[in-house]
Amino acid sequence: MLNFEYYNPTQIVFGKGSIARLAKLVPADARVLVLYGGGSAERNGTLAEVEAALGQRTVQRFAGIEANPSYETLMQAVEQIRREKLDFLLAVGGGSVIDGTKFVAAAVDYAGDPWEILETYGAKIKSALPFGCVLTLPATGSEMNSFSVISRKSLQAKLSFGSKHVFPRFSVLDPTRTYTLPERQVANGVVDAFVHVMEQYLTYPVGAPVQDRYAEGLLQTLVEIGPLALAKPDDYEVRANLMWAATQALNGLIGAGVPQDWATHMIGHEITAMFGLDHAQTLAIVLPALLDQRRAAKRDKLLQYAARVWQIDSGSDDERIDAAIARTRAFFESVGVKTRFGDYGIGADAVPRLIAQLEAHGMTALGERRDMDLALSRRVLEACL
Ligand code: NZQ
Ligand code: ZN
Repeated sequence: MLNFEYYNPTQIVFGKGSIARLAKLVPADARVLVLYGGGSAERNGTLAEVEAALGQRTVQRFAGIEANPSYETLMQAVEQIRREKLDFLLAVGGGSVIDGTKFVAAAVDYAGDPWEILETYGAKIKSALPFGCVLTLPATGSEMNSFSVISRKSLQAKLSFGSKHVFPRFSVLDPTRTYTLPERQVANGVVDAFVHVMEQYLTYPVGAPVQDRYAEGLLQTLVEIGPLALAKPDDYEVRANLMWAATQALNGLIGAGVPQDWATHMIGHEITAMFGLDHAQTLAIVLPALLDQRRAAKRDKLLQYAARVWQIDSGSDDERIDAAIARTRAFFESVGVKTRFGDYGIGADAVPRLIAQLEAHGMTALGERRDMDLALSRRVLEACL
């Protein structure tokens, strides 16, 4: 029986030239901190466009939020905000900058050690500074959700939190701002968005045809436009549709009221924390192996996926499932994201180490039925080799 609450307060401002709208979106008297990454936003002119739109407001910068944003770096932003009495944050970048900004927003007024935010998955957050986003990389959906993933180098940990207090007030999505993305990041974005849909769709049927058809539409759109986004880097229509698809893949709508898996992500985060692989690379490795190992629990949805997303209609059930998993893997490879540990120089000795980290982080009952124990995670990891 469908039974859910859906809440999403983020305003989306979409289209070429939409950065100018910051002039109205940011409160006129705000003391703004603009947070960004390693310099792409500065090099390609996005930052200049943002600062022009902010006009006469007090604006300071915080540079250097790295991919897989680190607690250590973000705490420096927290100090700057406290010292300079800033009161509005603007994230300019991809998922890492936006996630980092969410953490900073929650940490500034947090009573206690801010690392606790991660240890308690955000449950104790009572307030956060208001913030907006200017998205430059379609992938994570962070621009329209209340989740964030933060790494702490000293602990080799990559943990996530969520809170209704860290929804962005608004997100500006200008597809032309993605034209400078390296191919690797475009491909990562396609794979990440695809796997976000799969985490919420490929579980078991609960009589939710709206969510199912919506998810299948997003998957098919990504299959269609993923290769085009690589082949035509400055095609507005393709980039616009990729951006909107990635946002909707993780803004809560397709997941409303349905079971969700997220085991691929939890295992993937451990792989990034240990070996530094890009987030999407870890997903491309884990998802095909996980679907194969979970074929009994996910049988009905795997068959639906095979028929509706890949138009696979012949053969036995197992043959159709095999074919759907093979098509999934081939799709990731076709956009240039490799799908085996060996492709990244990771060997069998990684498996017990990753299992130990999953255990240390309490990831011992994963999946849509919370029945994925460490023994099953081990089998999945072995199938990634
Ligand atoms: O740092 P700069 O110089 O800006 O370069 C970035 C970075 O190196 C570059 N880039 C971004 N926009 C660009 C650009 N280069 C040229 N032109 C542009 N327009 O791209 C590189 C990767 O950026 P990053 O933000 O790390 O990528 P992504 O958006 O894929 O974010 C990945 C992070 O998001 C987390 C991941 O775990 C990872 O830490 N996730 C967040 C989620 C969420 N909040 O809901 C869900 C996801 O599952 C994911 O876990
Ligand atoms: Zn993801």
